[in-house]
Amino acid sequence: MEMIKRPDDMQRITTVELAEAFIAEQVEKVRKQVGDKKVLLALSGGVDSSVVAALLIKAIGKQLVCVHVNHGLMRKGESEQVIEVFGKQLDANLIYIDATDRFLDKLAGVSDPEKKRKIIGNEFIVVFDEEAKKLEGISFLAQGTIYPDILESDGVKAHHNVGGLPEEMAMELVEPVALLYKDEVRVVGSALGLPDEMVYRQPFPGPGLGVRCLGAITRDRLNALREADAILREEFDKNGLAGKVWQYFIAVPDVKSVGVRDGKRYEGWPAIIRAVNTTDAMSATIEEIPYALLHKITDRITHEVEGINRVLYDLTPKPIGTIEWE
Ligand code: XMP
Repeated sequence: MEMIKRPDDMQRITTVELAEAFIAEQVEKVRKQVGDKKVLLALSGGVDSSVVAALLIKAIGKQLVCVHVNHGLMRKGESEQVIEVFGKQLDANLIYIDATDRFLDKLAGVSDPEKKRKIIGNEFIVVFDEEAKKLEGISFLAQGTIYPDILESDGVKAHHNVGGLPEEMAMELVEPVALLYKDEVRVVGSALGLPDEMVYRQPFPGPGLGVRCLGAITRDRLNALREADAILREEFDKNGLAGKVWQYFIAVPDVKSVGVRDGKRYEGWPAIIRAVNTTDAMSATIEEIPYALLHKITDRITHEVEGINRVLYDLTPKPIGTIEWE
């Protein structure tokens, strides 16, 4: 990450016209910087890396090599969307790596949250580095650094993030959105034609569902978490909460309780709903989800998701609870 300063007179990008002017300017700049060389990008499918990918595809087409590492901790449908949008619609030079087994094998039996984060971060670098070594003639590394990353380089994101790339990956950086705030990145992403669900998606931690499948991750519980989370997101979409609530997800602890299903004892995990509002993630309040919707979500999750027999709603603001459970 380069230490750069946003010029005081730089206009906030709020309209399609301003976004298009920014895109045209960056396309020129990137072409000049890169020439006929190749650029590598770790494409997570998050807002920042997706916008950088779309911008660079416009500027240099197949000279951009996108690598999408599926660590097995993605939300339902996310890797598929990366393949659909970038691989198919934008015809990108996309390498997809399903590293699920590698990550889950390394995580097996590990319950300490910080150890889990470290394993996920380190393994990501190992997988990405292995892939980079297979490629020839890469001269640049593109990154989705945005202005708050520079301003708050010891803030929440940097403090949590273990997924940064190693210093020894000493390639010249291409960081076309480094001067932009998040809202501007979204406007630019829309102007580049990225789908709303990609551009306006809620924040998702680098270690993904890994920090929501609490304690030692097992495949069956991770799967239950992913399915329950998909139901929550679907119901929030259908009921107009998706664009309104800042962050919402399910956490599944490593605890079972007794229940009954079809007249028989049915042991299962609880699914915990978290739905919070905040501006900076330093403090957060709880969304007042209507009771009828809570009942609907509970009914669907307990009937449709194998292994879940209760649904709980976490009413704890931050502080004292953090947003994530680990
Ligand atoms: P907490 O749980 O600290 O979370 O209240 C604040 C915000 O940070 C996100 N978060 C992470 N983001 N890597 C990330 O990139 C992480 O390890 C991580 N842990 C928490 C969290 O989702 C929330 O938006």
